[in-house]
Amino acid sequence: MEIPKNRLLPDTAQINSLGHLEIGGVDVVDLAKRYGTPIYLYDETTLRNRMREFVSSLKETYPKSKVLYAGKAFLIKKMTRILAEEGLGLDVVSGGEIYIAKESNFPMENVYFHGNNKTIEELKFALEVGVRNIVVDNLDELKLLVSLVKRRPINILFRLTPGVDPHTHSYISTGKIDSKFGFQLNSKDLETAVELVKTDTFLNFKGLHCHIGSQIFDTKFFRISAEIMAEQVVTFTKKWNLPVEELDMGGGLGIAYKPSDDPPTPKEMAVSVADPIGEVCNREGIELPTLILEPGRYIVGNAGVTVYTVGTIKEIPEIRKYVSVDGGMADNPRPMLYQAEYTAFLANKMNKIPVETVTIAGRFCESGDILIDKAVLPTVENGDVLVISATGAYNYSMSSNYNMCPRPIVIGVRDGKDEVWVEREKYSDLVRLQR
Ligand SMILES: Cc1ncc(COP(=O)(O)O)c(C=O)c1O
Repeated sequence: MEIPKNRLLPDTAQINSLGHLEIGGVDVVDLAKRYGTPIYLYDETTLRNRMREFVSSLKETYPKSKVLYAGKAFLIKKMTRILAEEGLGLDVVSGGEIYIAKESNFPMENVYFHGNNKTIEELKFALEVGVRNIVVDNLDELKLLVSLVKRRPINILFRLTPGVDPHTHSYISTGKIDSKFGFQLNSKDLETAVELVKTDTFLNFKGLHCHIGSQIFDTKFFRISAEIMAEQVVTFTKKWNLPVEELDMGGGLGIAYKPSDDPPTPKEMAVSVADPIGEVCNREGIELPTLILEPGRYIVGNAGVTVYTVGTIKEIPEIRKYVSVDGGMADNPRPMLYQAEYTAFLANKMNKIPVETVTIAGRFCESGDILIDKAVLPTVENGDVLVISATGAYNYSMSSNYNMCPRPIVIGVRDGKDEVWVEREKYSDLVRLQR
């Protein structure tokens, strides 16, 4: 097997003298022996590399900018500490995510609160712990905020639906017209919201936001949505006399899940959004807004892998060979949710040549619990250490206790050292809240 060149595996991945996969200077086979499996394994170097790359690409392209990490992709206390050290802000979508940020002393002024149905309790909690930036999704939410914010002013951004469909799977495309997210352009609700915000003393209009979808490979969709949003900047500034200080264009940059994937770079994403904004603001003589981007998947996706142990193997002659691992849909629901595709490696057989095509099945009681339909691997045997790459985003954060299975341990590696970031759940955790 080879280490793919398209950054599918973490940046530090290599094959050591034993023919084992090594990440962050740590032998993955040895790690599996010491901690058991499954493991969500994160390479801290890759996390930091991606953060730095994203921040510097955007800064070089558009100096007046900031990067918020989309916490929904993977948020634990360790992550918020790394983010703070690297100077990124944080996009949160729930009281729980805010709580994690608060627990790790993340600077609350760098937190932006999103969501299409934030509850009163969540909004109150956000205000209480010092979240100052709320991305308002709809008129009902704005009215709620007017009733809640009576002392200290807060900043608000309006989430708009630019109507761009980036042709990804419909479950992960959020900016097209038929979407539960955001204000429709030119709508009555938006006009009412504008009037409301102009008359309220405690809501400080800060800017606009959109997010058109995720795992986007064609930057033309970022460009089209930036053109639409730049025209909105003009409308807000000139027609409604609400200058747009911040324009948040969301996340969505795609990553490699397969060796053949060739996603765009952060620089290409930055250029595709910055160009139209620059052109329109220039043309209209409007001051450039601060440009915000919110990558999630790009920062964590390829920094993480999941480590499993191969259990039973079932061969159906001339049909397929099922290789079952000790995890599956509860630690990675994405293949079942939207047919996400992944790549597997045998960490203990990295110097062996791939010779067979197998189906990687999970251990959960659903026939559809298939992690990879066709994985090309060296001869697979019971006890092999199987690694699925690019599981750093939307895996741990979407995991469940289906079949009453405890969630895996989360381990970080760096410079030859491993560290437990989140303990493996125990059976006792499964009944902890039960009466
Ligand atoms: C509002 C918003 N911002 C950012 C993101 C992050 O997207 P990605 O992980 O594709 O970069 C999402 C993901 O759905 C989102 O809804």
